[in-house]
Amino acid sequence: MKGAEMLSVEGLTKAFGSGSNKLQVLKGVDMNIKQGEMVALMGPSGSGKSTLLNIIGGLLAGDSGTITLGERSYGLRGPSNVVDVRRELVGWIFQDFHLLDNLTAVDNVAMALELSGMPSAEAEAAARNALEKVGLGDRMHFIPDQLSGGQQQRVAIARAIAGNRPVLLADEPTGNLDIASGKEVMALFKALCHDEENPISILMVTHDPDLASNADRMLLLNDGRTEASDIRSAWGLDDEDETESASDDLEQVAETTDGGEEE
Ligand SMILES: Nc1ncnc2c1ncn2[C@@H]1O[C@H](COP(=O)(O)OP(=O)(O)OP(=O)(O)O)[C@@H](O)[C@H]1O
Ligand SMILES: [Mg+2]
Repeated sequence: MKGAEMLSVEGLTKAFGSGSNKLQVLKGVDMNIKQGEMVALMGPSGSGKSTLLNIIGGLLAGDSGTITLGERSYGLRGPSNVVDVRRELVGWIFQDFHLLDNLTAVDNVAMALELSGMPSAEAEAAARNALEKVGLGDRMHFIPDQLSGGQQQRVAIARAIAGNRPVLLADEPTGNLDIASGKEVMALFKALCHDEENPISILMVTHDPDLASNADRMLLLNDGRTEASDIRSAWGLDDEDETESASDDLEQVAETTDGGEEE
């Protein structure tokens, strides 16, 4: 099911500010994602997860390095030079859905397609198709207020996949959802990645190790670089209950012995 390399990031760096205020957020990120792969990105708050997604999504220019998405290479170009990346290659899912309040589900999805130049009739057909795919075939004409949070996020997912974009970037997509709706979104992501006919690739930021464990693979953004990870090491659990606590214990034993408080 997993095909060719879809997204590849090499030596990507990004700093904010200058002089003594310079903050080097990304220090040489190397990572890649295959077609049909769902990858969870974790890391402490402020470690640069959103920054990395923004550069991959063509919303922010990196300082050095390259990004290759399919045939397209970019990374250091400003947002105005990667319009095609935003229009054709990358779909976005945000924590707070970003739907237009007064438009029905089908119009929310169709409008995004029209903005990227698709004729109305074609856009509406593609929107219906995408909403069927996310299980909202019976909610096409509901406005966001008439939908649950999980359903609203599914409209946003329909919008992101409707244009047949090969890569979906999701920044804490389940942050505003209850546990059950979050799980539904994960199941949907998985189905989209593992689709036999048209598998897409998803890079998803989450703080929830339980949700991350749904992904095919997990990456940890740590000190400006990504590393392969599993849930335990991402949360420092391995350090805690093995090496560190063991050496702490030894130190305590040594102190007690030095203090001469023998029984
Ligand atoms: N436009 C900006 N100007 C200056 N500093 C910025 C800018 N954008 C982000 N930063 C800084 O870069 C660092 C990384 O931010 P980023 O939003 O990528 O973190 P994050 O990993 O997504 O965190 P969280 O988990 O809290 O969403 C932070 O210290 C942030 O303050
Ligand atoms: Mg963030």
